[in-house]
Amino acid sequence: MNFKEFQTEQKLRGGYYTPVDLASFLVRWVEKKQPKDILEPSCGDGIFFKPLADLIPKARVTSFELDPVEAEKANNFASQAGLRKAAIRNEDFLGWAVDALQSGRGQFDAILGNPPFIRYQYLPPVFQDRAETIFYALACKFTKHTNAWVPFILASFALLRPGGRLAMVVPAEIIHVMHAQSLRSYLGKNASRLVVIDPEELWFEGTLQGAVLLMVEKKSHPDEHAEGLGMYPVKGRDFLALDPEDVFRAPQSINGKTVAGKWTRALLPLSTRSLLDGLADSGEVRRFDDVAQVDVGIVTGANKFFLVEDDTVEQFGLQQWAHPMFGRSEHCPGIVYDERQHRANADKGNPTNFIWFQDKAVEKSRTGRRYIEQGEKESLHTRYKCRIRSPWYSVPSVYATEIGMLKRSHDTPRLILNELRAYTTDTAYRVRIKEGTAEQFVYGFINALTALSAELEGRHYGGGVLELVPSEIEKLLVPSPLKVKAQVDDLDKAVRTMPMDAVLEQQTKRTLGGLGLSDADQLELLTGWKRLRNRRHRVSEDAD
Ligand SMILES: C[S@@+](CC[C@H](N)C(=O)[O-])C[C@H]1O[C@@H](n2cnc3c(N)ncnc32)[C@H](O)[C@@H]1O
Repeated sequence: MNFKEFQTEQKLRGGYYTPVDLASFLVRWVEKKQPKDILEPSCGDGIFFKPLADLIPKARVTSFELDPVEAEKANNFASQAGLRKAAIRNEDFLGWAVDALQSGRGQFDAILGNPPFIRYQYLPPVFQDRAETIFYALACKFTKHTNAWVPFILASFALLRPGGRLAMVVPAEIIHVMHAQSLRSYLGKNASRLVVIDPEELWFEGTLQGAVLLMVEKKSHPDEHAEGLGMYPVKGRDFLALDPEDVFRAPQSINGKTVAGKWTRALLPLSTRSLLDGLADSGEVRRFDDVAQVDVGIVTGANKFFLVEDDTVEQFGLQQWAHPMFGRSEHCPGIVYDERQHRANADKGNPTNFIWFQDKAVEKSRTGRRYIEQGEKESLHTRYKCRIRSPWYSVPSVYATEIGMLKRSHDTPRLILNELRAYTTDTAYRVRIKEGTAEQFVYGFINALTALSAELEGRHYGGGVLELVPSEIEKLLVPSPLKVKAQVDDLDKAVRTMPMDAVLEQQTKRTLGGLGLSDADQLELLTGWKRLRNRRHRVSEDAD
């Protein structure tokens, strides 16, 4: 849990400052349009002012900075740098932007900056209201999962004159997080061209959050053709010596599907995207949702109490309520969960038992009551998920499925053939097959096409772990299970003993090769998957 009081002051302000070389590069790009009115919506101590004073000294610069100390520094810095027409307002940009959008005042030729990264839940209520108002004012879908940088970019872009330029340092998650979909769609619709400069390294020390440069040119008139999005991957800082205009024009832009959804597709070459689209439309390949159903796992509300190791079962005499369960990837090193794996987990002292008190009947038992009272002593019955059900100790929606799927994965997601019919908690999903057999689905799921589509549909955070939610899983491309010749034990052994890259190569040959996909196309998919997986892990392209 990320409690507000544990966040550092710098984090709560969303304040990681831009290195001056990146700021200069962005200023050089907007300078091409000779802007007269420039906005910096969250200027910090004013890092953009020096390059602005050097290159566009006559521009009127309107800046905002919430922190009075930083705003004061920015003020001094603007004078020192020789930026004559700079106004630094020590107030909330979002509040000002709401008024400006409603009154139609405040229009800019260029926008520069690095908006704050602050989760919506950490914003003061009045800022939350303003953020929400900005979404509605621009007819964009609002969600409480948003983050301050999203309404900052939305409002800034809306305040840009036709043909103007927005150049910002933004969180790399703009490419894929679901909550930024309104922003991606809004930019896709109103920009004549968008380019994301995507670095291999982390630009900000002390944060796991990756950043990218976003360069957007607004349409000159609503009917202007939208070129779409271009991705410009970089390694190191050599690109800063190039003409920013050349960088902006360099990547081939993509429109249609890519700009309508997550931008991850733009990280792939055209040949891979076309291959994916062709396969998605072929009869041999299906969407996950066509062949199986995915549901969340069991939500206990107090895992420490409900998921326990054998010793606790022994100590409290809970045998009659204890059921086998798994939930963590280290509990499932292969693709089969059977008695042998379960025993091995239990012998290691893992919490392999799910304690299920179906109803109040347990209170008739002295041992059952003793365990429940123990939980109450620890106030577990007052926890949200527990207190909203009755009795608090009876976990709802308890059923096991023949297939489980862990929510998170390092290389690529796997399905687990749940031979033991063990229960799974909320770290795993429950999967029910609609077509073919469970063996066919589990076996066919490991291949380069499914792995690549998981990279495209899923999300990842600082640590580089891939996570998929059910709505993303439903979209995964899978080989039709009916065509798969399953050899589950063989694959189980391979997953346990071989590196995932080698397993995927072998399985791609067996499953997709078996469907008639050429070696060259198999390689194209494997290469695409590796590129996205390595980017997620921040492994250099050269390392492979
Ligand atoms: C990521 S820093 C970037 C600072 C500067 N633009 C740079 O590039 O170095 C974001 C800044 O936004 C400021 N900030 C946070 N919330 C704000 C708000 N509602 N209005 C204006 N500034 C805000 C923070 O204090 C912080 O200085």
